[in-house]
Amino acid sequence: MDWTASFARRAHTLGSGEITAILALAGATDVITFSGGFPAPETFPVGVVTDIVADLLARDAAVALQYTATEGLASTRDYLAARLEAVQGLRPAPGELMITSGGIDCMELLAKSFIDPGDAVVVEAPSYLGAIMAFRGYQADVRGVPLDGGGLRVDVLADLLAGGLRPKVVYTIPDFQNPTGLSLSAERRHALVSLARRYGFLILEDVAYRDLGFGAPPPPALWSLAPDVVLQAGTCSKIFFPGVRLGWAAGPAQIISQLAIAKQNSDQCAGALGQRLFEEYGRGGHLDRQLAASRELYARRATLLTAALAAHLPEDSTWTVPEGGFYSWVTLPEGVDTVVLNSRATERKVAFVPGAPFYPVATPAGARQLRLSYSRVADDLIDEGVRRIAAAIAGMPPAAPAGVPGTASILIPETS
Ligand SMILES: Cc1ncc(COP(=O)(O)O)c(C=O)c1O
Repeated sequence: MDWTASFARRAHTLGSGEITAILALAGATDVITFSGGFPAPETFPVGVVTDIVADLLARDAAVALQYTATEGLASTRDYLAARLEAVQGLRPAPGELMITSGGIDCMELLAKSFIDPGDAVVVEAPSYLGAIMAFRGYQADVRGVPLDGGGLRVDVLADLLAGGLRPKVVYTIPDFQNPTGLSLSAERRHALVSLARRYGFLILEDVAYRDLGFGAPPPPALWSLAPDVVLQAGTCSKIFFPGVRLGWAAGPAQIISQLAIAKQNSDQCAGALGQRLFEEYGRGGHLDRQLAASRELYARRATLLTAALAAHLPEDSTWTVPEGGFYSWVTLPEGVDTVVLNSRATERKVAFVPGAPFYPVATPAGARQLRLSYSRVADDLIDEGVRRIAAAIAGMPPAAPAGVPGTASILIPETS
């Protein structure tokens, strides 16, 4: 049977499996993979987790193996509230914080709660693919606003708002953004929250990489500046481990309680075992210790990557120099199509993600851009991986005109 005709109309807005393709490489061992935003396995706290699990099963199995309230366990929320106060300078009240099943769960719950077909949502162009897909899944009209060295071009957003655009949500990743590695300047953070108050939209602030800066701490979190108009989505995936599928949402109590209602008919609650595990891990001081080690590891890999890019990429290539997080965003010379390059790179056993799918609407620039994630590539393979990409570029035939099927196949269809 072919079930395509039975799929809901919204299923056709969900792209063609780019994330599935990235995750399929999670277990690949013979490919140098710069593709997914995977944390380094060296950061996984196997020993400590083993001890905590044994202890939880001995002492607290009735809680750790049970369902939890949809908002999450009170003790875990209490730990997280204290942590947010310590690292972001603001403590959410009990009704202003819930535990989610990873960062992506927050996007999905917010989209489900806020978006009617055709509602405008603004994202950075380029932005995190999972969020774009979450909004598209509810038939949002997803608009892109460009970034530069200071992050989201808040001035461009201001012009669009002055011209009549009325988004319900503006989604931003202010710290070490996925896919560019860029961060939002302090000045623009203040300007953005002023716009939110003036025009009445919600800022969805994704802090997935905030704790993974290599230098001075980033400017204040948007949520700490304006908890009245910001919903913060956090994740434990990059700082603890993704297998735990855990995150948080902090924001206005009215929105948090609506997200909890939305969660009741998806997975009802995040797993109790993971919640207790994360809480004990944090309370025991292990998270802060690991964060210091992780920052050092990722900083080293970022340096190795940018050195390799400088050594091997063709002239006229540019890339962002990461100051935190997992990514560098590369722009290749005019005429190189990174979708075509991707299949040539696969033959050479190296993987990356082409730029086009990160844009809500296709742009010519996206066709020659690509994202490199250095987080999971062993130090001694980074240079070799970039060499292979450069070799794949070197032998490329001249680019075909824009709009050929090879390019179109990776673009996400626009919603009406
Ligand atoms: C910006 C951003 N937000 C959220 C997530 C998703 O995190 P989680 O694994 O918690 O769903 C990712 C994962 O790559 C990400 O890059």
